[in-house]
Amino acid sequence: MSPPPKKSVKSLEMEATLLRAQIARHDILYHQQDAPEISDAEYDKLKRRLEDIEKILPPTDGLFSPTQSVGAKPAAAFAKVRHRVPMLSLGNAFSPEDAADFCERVRKFLNLSEDTPLEILAEPKIDGLSCSLRYENGKFVQAATRGDGEEGEDVTANIMTVADVPKTITGAPDILEVRGEIYMTRDDFDALNAAQEAAEDKIFANPRNAAAGSLRQLDPTITARRPLRFFGYALGETSAPIADTQEGIRAALEQFGFQIPAPAAVCGTADALVTFHENVYGARPDIPYDLDGIVYKVNSLEFQRRLGFISRAPRWAIAHKFPAEQAETVLEAIEVQVGRTGTLTPVAHLKPVNVGGVIVSRATLHNQDEIERKDVRAGDHVIIQRAGDVIPQIVRSLPEKRGADSLPYVFPQNCPACGRAAVRAEDEAATRCTGGLLCPAQAVERLKHFVSRLAFDIEGLGDKIIREFYDEGIVRLPADIFRLARHTDALKERDGWGELSVSNLMSAIDARRRIGLERFIYALGIRQVGQATAKKLAMHYETLENLRAHIPATADAESTAYQNLIAIEDIGPAVAADIIAFFNDAQQMAAVDDVCAELDIQPYIRVQTGDSPVAGKTVVFTGKLTRLGREEAKAQAEALGAKVAGSVSKNTQYVIAGEDAGSKLKKAAELGVTVLSEDEWLSLVGKA
Ligand code: IVH
Repeated sequence: MSPPPKKSVKSLEMEATLLRAQIARHDILYHQQDAPEISDAEYDKLKRRLEDIEKILPPTDGLFSPTQSVGAKPAAAFAKVRHRVPMLSLGNAFSPEDAADFCERVRKFLNLSEDTPLEILAEPKIDGLSCSLRYENGKFVQAATRGDGEEGEDVTANIMTVADVPKTITGAPDILEVRGEIYMTRDDFDALNAAQEAAEDKIFANPRNAAAGSLRQLDPTITARRPLRFFGYALGETSAPIADTQEGIRAALEQFGFQIPAPAAVCGTADALVTFHENVYGARPDIPYDLDGIVYKVNSLEFQRRLGFISRAPRWAIAHKFPAEQAETVLEAIEVQVGRTGTLTPVAHLKPVNVGGVIVSRATLHNQDEIERKDVRAGDHVIIQRAGDVIPQIVRSLPEKRGADSLPYVFPQNCPACGRAAVRAEDEAATRCTGGLLCPAQAVERLKHFVSRLAFDIEGLGDKIIREFYDEGIVRLPADIFRLARHTDALKERDGWGELSVSNLMSAIDARRRIGLERFIYALGIRQVGQATAKKLAMHYETLENLRAHIPATADAESTAYQNLIAIEDIGPAVAADIIAFFNDAQQMAAVDDVCAELDIQPYIRVQTGDSPVAGKTVVFTGKLTRLGREEAKAQAEALGAKVAGSVSKNTQYVIAGEDAGSKLKKAAELGVTVLSEDEWLSLVGKA
């Protein structure tokens, strides 16, 4: 390789800048427009020349250079990255009361006395998309999107182009994952849209969408030309602690060269949090990027560790959302949709309107009472609102703008999908179709749920295909999905399908025959049983056989089976009733048997049981605990592999009795079950 001819640094710099622009242009001509203007050899020559210059003058941090890009054709899809520490979402608070409840919940969980101070850090919630950046030995090595929280997409090449992201950091532990938000300022967004418009290219609805669209480009040279920025606000995997408070994490991140969300404050009371929230809300017009609320985080990392997580969100943080944006539009029609569990949900079709940067054309009307209470009618002018990521809602109708021929809305008494009776239970707001799996709408929604991302996650079986397969009679029940191989000849003949797409689909289906119990339970689509509850059921019963054998036939409060069911965290009488109804419904059980014959359902595997003295043991807490909150005690026992039951039986190994323990303590004595004090329990599990 010939050394670059002697030139001044300045002119080399200029040459490099020119080369970068030329190469980026040829990349686009080649990869996106299929219209190369130069030969491969000429292209390689430009690139080699740039590489030679960069040996002397490496591109400065944050500057994108095509020499760092993958070079060859952009990949067909992003590679997947498994998060070593899951990327969680946040629970929401909408009012000062919710903020106060959050502080109370935290105090109760930690069993803090009234005079023990509790510090909570408040900082803006950036309306962008979250990203995890991995550093090894101080070098940026990988970036991943959140994805489903467990697995995201590898966007390393794209993040390489973001100037806000330090590419090397000093003083960090060997492994450090920084989590934060990729976003765009409002000014940059306006400029980008103007340029897009001039180029007759896609216009983005808001800065958030523009940031997401810019990051998720298979060709990083496009991302490089988009004005993306990054704020760091949390950590993923770290090989050593970098702080002992959230405030300390912020300081360390700033030290490493990250931008951090501002302003921030450490508050001692819920009132102080709410005041901070109000102040930042008022200052929004002066903040150059979109915020959608304030995040409250317990400041002590030791407290954070004790608080842990519940399903997909930490107990130690919450997002206090800003009030919703509102707009006026016309309600064109009310359509009733039938959901997975037969609930009839009225949906308003609206004249499309821009609400705080998002075009809204539909809003939920929830149920019959909601329509009557608000007296919403087809043709009405209505005020709608949307807050963050929640479904837009109708605030009120404007009866003064109504025509003389307007009539009140009449809620249907029959299912619009199958025509069977729709009934409303006495104490419920929902009206439900009585058709069960015989109703095509319910059956299709159940199938969509069954294959959805958090359930069986079958690639290639999207909503549209499920609907078509159902209408054609190829797939009516979940088991039919696993028997699709019988239809391969017919499938190959479908419009746009062929040998390859059919074989890909068959492999995707076969890959999912083996499934964990918690996903399977979630996939069943039992009313009120979401991901968190499905997991709790799986943890408690461990196998499907055991679960089916122990779900009681009725909600008999006296039975041990019922007691054990409602002792599971998150399962109260209402959820229990739905679970009991499901597992005692012959039609449902026939469908479950049918699909089970096609599957290999893996029992729930407990975590961290290695050297835990209580792994696999059944424990019962009773009476008032003084050192731990009740929820904390349960969560801790479960994390150590124990099963927490609600009543004492001969299968119980330990009863942990707090103050004023009553009948359960007596029962333990009768059955000869070991009784421990709270202190004895803590020393048994090594937490004394
Ligand atoms: S802390 C363990 N802080 O909001 C959870 N999140 O709705 C750590 N977000 O997924 C999140 N600004 O993408 C945190 N200052 C901030 C944030 C923030 C925006 C996002 C984040 C998260 C989502 C939850």
